Amino acid sequence: MNKAVFVLIALLSQNTFATEHEQFTQQGKVAIKEFATTLKASLVSAMKSGGPIEAISVCNQVAPAISAELSEKYGFEISRTSLKVRNQNNAADQWEKEILFQFESLNQQGEDVKTLFVSEAITKSGSHEMRMMKAIPTGKVCLTCHGSNIDPVVQAKLSELYPNDQATGFKLGDIRGAFTVRKTID
Ligand code: HEC
Repeated sequence: MNKAVFVLIALLSQNTFATEHEQFTQQGKVAIKEFATTLKASLVSAMKSGGPIEAISVCNQVAPAISAELSEKYGFEISRTSLKVRNQNNAADQWEKEILFQFESLNQQGEDVKTLFVSEAITKSGSHEMRMMKAIPTGKVCLTCHGSNIDPVVQAKLSELYPNDQATGFKLGDIRGAFTVRKTID
C-alpha cells in the first residue's frame, strides 16, 4: 500500500476510535448514574419497609439484575467492584485494582471521593478496549451492612450468604468500591 494512504487510514481509524471512546465515556457516565440511582432507591425503600434484612435481598438480587439489564441496554459490561468484596463475583481484575489503589491514594491526599473517575482506551494487539471506573463513597446508610458495628442479626444473615465476606469495617467517607464499565472492540 502507498505509504500516504496507509498513514491516512491509520489516522482515520485512530480518529474513529477517539470518537468511540468519547461516546463510551458519555454513555458510561449515564449508565453509572442510572445504576447508582436505581439501586439506591430500591435500597432505601427496602430499608424503610422491611429493614436491613429485607434490604440485603435487594443488594443480593436486585444489584446483579440491574447490572445485567444495563449491560444489555448499553451494549457494554457494567458492574461494581472493590478492593474488599462481599461477593467474589465482584472481585477486581488487575486493571481495576490499580485504579482502585490510585483512587485510595487520591482520597488520602484529600480528593473528594465523588470526583474520582477514570476513562481509558487501551489498545492491545488486534483489539481496542475501553474501560471506565467511578468511585463509590461510603454513606451513612451503607454502614448498616458495611460498617464496623453491624447488628448481630444482620451480620448472621450476611455471614450465611457470604461466608468469605471482606466488605465490612468501612467508615463514613471511605471508598466502598467503584462502578466499572468495559467495552471491547475488535
Ligand atoms: C442491607 C445491607 C446493605 C446495605 C445497607 C448496603 N449494602 Fe452494599 N452490599 C450488600 C450485599 C448483600 C452485597 C453483595 C451483593 C452481591 O451479591 O452482588 C453488597 C455489595 C456491594 C458492592 C459490590 C462489591 C462487593 O462488595 O461485592 C458495593 C460497591 C456496595 N455494596 C456498596 C454499597 C454502598 C455504597 C452502600 C450505601 C449506599 C451499600 N452498599 C449499602 C449489602 C448492603
